[in-house]
Amino acid sequence: MSLLPFPEAVHVRAPGKINVYLGVGGRHDDGYHALATVFQAVSLYEDVIARPSDDFSIVVKGAVEPGSVPLDDRNLAMRAAKLLAAVTGHEGGVALELRKSVPVAGGMGGGSADAAAALLACDTLWGTGLSPMHLHELATRLGADVPFALHGGTAVGTGRGDQLNPALARGRFDWVLVMSDEGLSTPVIYQRLDEHRAQGEALADDPPLSLDVPIPVLQALRAGDPHSLAASMHNDLEVAALQERPVLEEIIRDGLHAGALSGIVSGSGPTVAFLCDTADTARYVQAELEERGRDALHVHGPVPGARVISA
Ligand code: C5P
Repeated sequence: MSLLPFPEAVHVRAPGKINVYLGVGGRHDDGYHALATVFQAVSLYEDVIARPSDDFSIVVKGAVEPGSVPLDDRNLAMRAAKLLAAVTGHEGGVALELRKSVPVAGGMGGGSADAAAALLACDTLWGTGLSPMHLHELATRLGADVPFALHGGTAVGTGRGDQLNPALARGRFDWVLVMSDEGLSTPVIYQRLDEHRAQGEALADDPPLSLDVPIPVLQALRAGDPHSLAASMHNDLEVAALQERPVLEEIIRDGLHAGALSGIVSGSGPTVAFLCDTADTARYVQAELEERGRDALHVHGPVPGARVISA
């Protein structure tokens, strides 16, 4: 029998994501859109350290603009910790330290990664021992991207993006990310897409309330072939993100010019993700973009979801 006391600190790491494909359908009555998406977790991580405390608090570390991350109940990690306490009847709180590397409001699911990491960290710290299925259910309640941050890898998301199925992906994909200093608001980007569609005459029918990921995207992932994936990558939100932030078009042009196979706005943006054929090309593309004054980073995917680093 283990007589070990509960840990003094639990460190959990969770990845940011790229939406390799993002199809957006119509809006449900609850305001959420029908989605068909493919997430890939990439090697840019959020680290969350949870320490015992009588109440709930958050401190944020990393290259983060002061005030850009709320420290109260608007913070998804705070909501995750409180939700876990509520459903398990845990008395007491947690002091959360968020070490951020994923850009804030960047379209890479940084806040969702914080929430997934906080769930797992508090479950370990408090010894509440929820099953993976139960953690998944709580993640779904917190936000559409949170379940994926728990699972990681490469996955298809349908429904509101929260119904996950693993996708077969062979090998490793090399990506160059270009970060922006200022984030974009996800709800605003969805709203801009709705407005754009309402103005468009080309769309004869309403957008569907159920949609699928195109087969070529899944085949390219299964084959581990960056060239096929580059040809089938797409993001329905891109048009809205480009409208809000025209400079993204210039960034995409620069990356393609430097030798990337394809460039796409990730999620609701403004991060741009370039797919490259090899790690060497990616390093070259990164250097070229940095030369042009862009904040570029070479990452790879898929990587695992939230996991305990130490406890
Ligand atoms: O679920 P999450 O908090 O990440 O979503 C942020 C916002 O993005 C929602 O409030 C909604 O405006 C928009 N959204 C949407 N349809 C989805 C997912 C998100 O309209 N399927």
